[in-house]
Amino acid sequence: MSETVGARTDREDFQATTDPALMESADRGESHLLSYAELYALWERQQWRTQDIDFTQDRIDWHERIDPEERFQRMYGLSSFFIGEQKVAEELGPMMRAAPTEEMRIFLCTQIADEARHVAFFNRFYDEVGVLESDNLQDRLKETSAHLNPKFNELFDVQLGGRVDKLAADPGDLETLVEAITIYHMIIEGMLALTGQHFIISYNEQVGTLPGFVEGFNNVARDEHRHVAFGARFLRDMAAKDGRYREAIQRTLTESAGPANSVLQPPWYEEGVEVFGVTMDETRAFAIKALERRLKVIGLTPVP
Ligand SMILES: [Fe+2]
Ligand SMILES: [Fe+2]
Repeated sequence: MSETVGARTDREDFQATTDPALMESADRGESHLLSYAELYALWERQQWRTQDIDFTQDRIDWHERIDPEERFQRMYGLSSFFIGEQKVAEELGPMMRAAPTEEMRIFLCTQIADEARHVAFFNRFYDEVGVLESDNLQDRLKETSAHLNPKFNELFDVQLGGRVDKLAADPGDLETLVEAITIYHMIIEGMLALTGQHFIISYNEQVGTLPGFVEGFNNVARDEHRHVAFGARFLRDMAAKDGRYREAIQRTLTESAGPANSVLQPPWYEEGVEVFGVTMDETRAFAIKALERRLKVIGLTPVP
């Protein structure tokens, strides 16, 4: 972990989420995971507004300091996040309704609001910086989707979307909810989003670009750590309750590992080459370490 990112996630507000990936004690399988009511209270204290972020310097950086080839390379991360945020915002409704307790449902309502704010953050960045030709949210999502890895849709639409459709038809299906939360909170948010955020923020800090984006993306990352802390708590509680749920988590992790691994990698990536100062092996090692820590706290062994 680089010093700047270590310093950022050591901050009191990041540590307050108790996401196991931020805690060294999680290597020993120990962590004090917040209750659902405590996670809700933390959400009330950790508010922010996309409209407060100033993208003036970002616009100059994007057009005058970042060359066309680097702009193209940066579109992979930006597009995956922008579309990913929009997809998860829309998948969360049926998951919220299927959650078995009122405290869980109230927390998941806050998460729906957060994911909407993350979409609004990317939409504002694209708009104010002038990233694309399109001038509205729907068209921007369509235009930016050309940059995605093809496995992206398998993970978001087939694996997560398929389970969410099942939950919408049968909100009492707790095993499917466990599977959906494994994909959403552990794989998509915990493994992919927080890894991408770590390296994208570090690179911008190192080269001194996109200060508005970095400010907002740090806020997004803090929200994501809180979401992942909910997922870890939920999966730990469910795994402790019934071996059937423990098996569902393991089975789902094995199923989603392949597409998740592909999504970490841009479609144009050449093996062994550094992208924004890191190799794919370093990226994967970071993602796997974060997943391992969380699985230990949930009471599961990592999937090979
Ligand atoms: Fe998000
Ligand atoms: Fe999230």
